[in-house]
Amino acid sequence: MCGIVAYIGPRDAAPILLDGLRRLEYRGYDSAGIAVLQGGKIAVRRKAGKLANLVRAVQAHPVHGEVGIGHTRWATHGEPSDRNAHPHASSSGEIVVVHNGIVENFLELREELADEGVTFASDTDTEVIAQLIELYAGGGTPLFEAVRRAVGRLRGAHGIVVISAREPDRIVAARLGNAGGVTIGAGEGEMFVASDMPALLDHTRRMAFLESGQIALVTRTGYSVETLDGKPVESALQTVDWDATAAEKGNYPHFMLKEIHEQVRSLGDTMAGRVDFEQGEVFLPTLKIDSAAARRIRRVILTACGTASHAAMVGRILIERLARIPAEVDIASEFRYRDPILDDRTAVIAISQSGETADTLAAMEEAKRKGALLWSIVNVVGSQAMRMADGYLSMQTGPEIGVASTKAFTAPLVDLFLLGILLGRLRGTLPAAERRKRVAELRRLPGLVGECLAREASLAGPAAALKDVTHCLYLGRGSNMPIAYEGALKLKEISYIHAEAYPAGEMKHGPIALVDKSMPVIALAPRDPWYEKMLSQIEQTKARGGMVIAVCTDGDDRIPAKVDYAIPIPDVSWTLSPVLTIIPLQLLAYQVAVLRGCDVDQPRNLAKSVTVE
Ligand code: F6R
Repeated sequence: MCGIVAYIGPRDAAPILLDGLRRLEYRGYDSAGIAVLQGGKIAVRRKAGKLANLVRAVQAHPVHGEVGIGHTRWATHGEPSDRNAHPHASSSGEIVVVHNGIVENFLELREELADEGVTFASDTDTEVIAQLIELYAGGGTPLFEAVRRAVGRLRGAHGIVVISAREPDRIVAARLGNAGGVTIGAGEGEMFVASDMPALLDHTRRMAFLESGQIALVTRTGYSVETLDGKPVESALQTVDWDATAAEKGNYPHFMLKEIHEQVRSLGDTMAGRVDFEQGEVFLPTLKIDSAAARRIRRVILTACGTASHAAMVGRILIERLARIPAEVDIASEFRYRDPILDDRTAVIAISQSGETADTLAAMEEAKRKGALLWSIVNVVGSQAMRMADGYLSMQTGPEIGVASTKAFTAPLVDLFLLGILLGRLRGTLPAAERRKRVAELRRLPGLVGECLAREASLAGPAAALKDVTHCLYLGRGSNMPIAYEGALKLKEISYIHAEAYPAGEMKHGPIALVDKSMPVIALAPRDPWYEKMLSQIEQTKARGGMVIAVCTDGDDRIPAKVDYAIPIPDVSWTLSPVLTIIPLQLLAYQVAVLRGCDVDQPRNLAKSVTVE
């Protein structure tokens, strides 16, 4: 979704804005632009398509000044074109806005402004914001007040950043609802604003985060925050521990491949300081839970979207098995509108890499409103999902830039395993001996992931076999059923091959009708409690002429004898096997997408942080 970056300080703003936008490219966009205060006026450059087009436009017509805003747009109102790209100026050209979100009452406001004689230069909802601010800034009203008043008229969720030629010493930023973050970065004698931390990491790690309903005045030397109704807010700077190199590709051809390989480290980091492997103890202080609170929980609901919902599906199995609490998974976009039955003995766990997904945040709000105990598992420290929850777990993976989530899938699997162990201990449902055994196994996990990665080259055969197919099926059971869903999602989102996942036991109830020579089946069949069932599923597929690619366990000779391609992984218990079985499926999807010449890191139509409904 849209990315925002803004600068005020002693340096030339344009290169800083363009570089910040480059670091936000991963979010997905279809046009980009910057606006810079230059000689008492605001100069705007904007271009449809990739950032390189904007860079060329700026080289052809340079802009110089020390205050500016930039934006990458993911089209909602109006096609991706030069005229619809942000920033958008008011009719006077003196007030310029970038915006993330959708103005739900845009038509009504546009008509109202048209009645005032305003004419519009774009099809966007954002231009309405610029024109409204202009209207309210008449008669010498300060920019800050005009923005406050304009934001008060908007329905929907928004992140907005504004500059004005009339008040060149300031940037005004506001956040309303959950349309993505507004992050303020503090440098030495210079300040930044951005939608996401990676845009700022080169300049500062001291950041403050706006909450919904807050508006900030940012100058070269500092910032102040108020609520939209005028109450001052203490919004302290926090030091984030991400570093700028973590958001670089290094020697990898794509962020996705780099991030797949980072899983050895990210899983180690996710456990670091939280586990006593000798005693089988788990420490999760940020959850703020004790034995009495854990014993009160009657039901767990895990809610998330996309890849995070597949992690939730594994989590449900782990929490039921390890802590013996009934657990359910609810897709966040459905949960929020279902008027779910919740009480203070229900724990709702929201999983979100970005911590800014609009549907997940809305589901969390619903849970909070109904008095449930609310936890989140997030990658972005300081994100809305972290701040809104009663307690949280962080994924410790560092920034994930590839749009297709990989390391931010396996880290929550470990978080959920740790949570299951902790709840099992606090509730007395997990015998100490079993707890020690399971925790001890966890120690080996990063190394085992490394072994899976070392076998990357062996996926060339199956990748070539899938390169030209149009459909395929992913099957799994038990703790690997969610991995079938996640494997299929990885393939479809980056290679555009239609991939469906099923719990393998469901095949005989309909989908097996699809199986013939042209329907490859990817089966998850490690040695686990569901192994024999998967074996017979594979046999049924082979009997109908289907090609089978199977993930199996080292040393298994039955599966390799039956299938077209066997992908062995190291032996591990069923509770942790999803962390290993997904690795070859991530690599397989990656290799197929590369063979098909797809844009792996920025697949079409997708955005990294989905901040609209
Ligand atoms: C797929 C993918 C998406 C996200 C989903 C939720 O690879 O990345 O399905 O998992 O949009 O995003 P977060 O985790 O940021 O809430």
